[in-house]
Amino acid sequence: MNQTFNSVPSLKGLFAADFKIGAAVNPSTIRTQESLLTHHFNSITAENEMKFVSVHPEEQTYTFEAADRLVEFAREHGMAMRGHTLVWHNQTSDWLFRDRQGGTVGKDVLLGRVREHIHAVVGRYKNEIYAWDVVNEAIADEGEALLRTSKWTEIAGPDFIAKAFEYAHEADPQALLFYNDYNESNPQKRDKIYTLVQSLLEQGAPIHGIGLQAHWNLFDPSLDEIRAAIEKYASLGLQLQLTELDVSMFRFEDRRIDLTEPEPGMLEQQAERYEAVFRLLLEYRDVISGVTFWGAADDYTWLDDFPVRGRKNWPFLFDAHHRPKAAFERVAALAAEKRP
Ligand code: GLA
Repeated sequence: MNQTFNSVPSLKGLFAADFKIGAAVNPSTIRTQESLLTHHFNSITAENEMKFVSVHPEEQTYTFEAADRLVEFAREHGMAMRGHTLVWHNQTSDWLFRDRQGGTVGKDVLLGRVREHIHAVVGRYKNEIYAWDVVNEAIADEGEALLRTSKWTEIAGPDFIAKAFEYAHEADPQALLFYNDYNESNPQKRDKIYTLVQSLLEQGAPIHGIGLQAHWNLFDPSLDEIRAAIEKYASLGLQLQLTELDVSMFRFEDRRIDLTEPEPGMLEQQAERYEAVFRLLLEYRDVISGVTFWGAADDYTWLDDFPVRGRKNWPFLFDAHHRPKAAFERVAALAAEKRP
C-alpha cells in the first residue's frame, strides 16, 4: 500500500451525507498537517487554545492570539469550527476562584465572572464557531455522587452547569451547545450523564447536544456499550457528536513501554475496530452530526504521553507520514459500500 493521503478519496467527502469529520488541531499541527487536514477534514477543534487558562490567564487579561489563528485557518479553508471548552475542572485559571485576599469567592462572584468570560469568548467567535462544549467532564466517574467534586461544585453547587448553558446561549443564540464527557459509554457513567442532561432539559437550559469524547482503544468499550450509550442519549431528543475520537492500541491498564512500532496484527485489529465503530456510527447517522478525532495522524497524539509518558501510540486513520492506514481503507470502503 503506497498511497498518499491525497491520492485517496477524502473522509469528509465519503461521509458528506452523514456527519462532519473533524480533527483537533493546534498552531503547530495546522502547519505540519496542513495538507492532510484540508484534504480530509471539514471541521476542527482547538486542542488547548480555547480553554479557560489559555484565553483568560488573569482577570484583566485575555489572550486570543493562538485561538484566533485556528479560527482563521478554519475560515480560510471553509471548515466548521467547534469551540472547546468553557467550564471545566482542569486547565482553568486559579484566579477565577479566588478573591483579592487569596480566599475563595462566593457563588455570585464566581457566576458573575464565568458569565463575563463566556460572553467574551463565545461573543468573539459568534460568527465562526457553530458549536460549543459548554461544560466538560462534570460527572463523577465513581460512586453514587452525580457530579465530580471540584471548585465549581464547592462554590456554586450544581447550578453552575445550567448557568453556563444560559450564558453561552445569551452570548450566541445560534450556537449549538453541548455537554461533553469521557467514559461516556460506561453504563454507570452513561446513566449519570443522562440524568444530568435530562435535568438540564427539565430546567429549560438551552442544551442541544451531547459530546461523546470517545477516547477508546482496540478492546474497550464494547460495541454493545457504545450502541447502548448512543441509544440512551439520543432518547433525550438531542444530537450527538463524537468529539475526541481516538483508538489506542493499548488497554487502559496496559502500561507496557517497550513498543516502538505496532506489534504484528495490531494495525489489522485496529482496522477491524474502526470499521465496526464506523458501521455503528452510520447506523445512527440521523442523530450523529459530527465525528471529530483528537488529532489527525499518528505523528501527533496526546496518547504518546497518556497514560504512560513517552510511550508511542498509533490511534488514527493516518500514519506518522500521513499515509492512509489499513483502518482508513476499511472505513473508506464502508462509506462507499452503503451507496449503491
Ligand atoms: C479531555 C479534554 C480534552 C483534552 C483531552 C486529553 O478529553 O476534554 O480537552 O485535554 O482530555 O488531551
